[in-house]
Amino acid sequence: LRLFSGSANIGLATEVARYLGMDLGPMIRKRFADGELYVQIQESIRGCDVYLIQPCCNPVNDNLMELLIMIDACRRASARQITAVIPYYSYARADRKTAGRESISAKLVANLVTQAGANRVLAMDLHSAQIQGYFDIPLDHVYGSPVILDYLLQKELEDFVVVSPDVGGVARARAFAKKLNDAPLAIIDKRRQAHNVAEVMNVIGDVKGKNAILVDDMIDTAGTLLEGARLLKKEGAKKIYACATHAVFSGPAISRLSSDVFEEVIVTNTIPVPLDNYFPQLKVLSVANLLGETI
Ligand code: R5P
Repeated sequence: LRLFSGSANIGLATEVARYLGMDLGPMIRKRFADGELYVQIQESIRGCDVYLIQPCCNPVNDNLMELLIMIDACRRASARQITAVIPYYSYARADRKTAGRESISAKLVANLVTQAGANRVLAMDLHSAQIQGYFDIPLDHVYGSPVILDYLLQKELEDFVVVSPDVGGVARARAFAKKLNDAPLAIIDKRRQAHNVAEVMNVIGDVKGKNAILVDDMIDTAGTLLEGARLLKKEGAKKIYACATHAVFSGPAISRLSSDVFEEVIVTNTIPVPLDNYFPQLKVLSVANLLGETI
């Protein structure tokens, strides 16, 4: 077994390697003057089971391309089996056509990863479960929720309700609530007018006087969670905990999440959070052991 990391999240890959009791394999990554990427595996991997760790986070296209080049390099070096470990799968929100003449980019990414030469994929918290079916190679889909649930359970919170910030996230939030001792569930009916602009309408369920745990798969600009949290406060919720596996954190996310409406913002390290993006309520949990165990 050989483990290599792309440049997207070397910290996480190093932790996974430590968990597995091995080192990351040597690899050269370079960029040509015109921006093209170059990768060379620095040891023989002929006949090996190779795991390539690369979340396709910002810069999304560079990280995706680097992953494809790594897969191609391993295939051409006669690896026996290539597993693309993609802790954050980008373009996942474009998982269907919602209007004419759109791309289903999530499927395109699946095609690219497969055609580059991956034999298997290990992904975490795909935005929608049907993306598993976009692959004709085996895909293991693991969830960051056990790590977040363990952390929340240690807090021994009382009188809380799990809240889905939109209708699309109900199954995720329901599964989360079930594992939190069958906690009650509330749903925010969110309507969007444009990409990355959240418009909150109303809460379905009882949140008055309760601590609310908002559960989402990703925090991008944090508009969804901030609007959701404000609405929950208006409806009489007490402390608000925001939880998500993927800390995409684009644009105004950090200033929005620093709002005192949040008691705590709990994410995982599928995407690295730069030190200067930390704020007092932020808690970053590691999924390295989970990934290591799955590998
Ligand atoms: C939407 O369907 C997703 O599950 C997230 O709620 C959304 O992508 C978060 O985006 P933002 O943080 O920009 O509101």
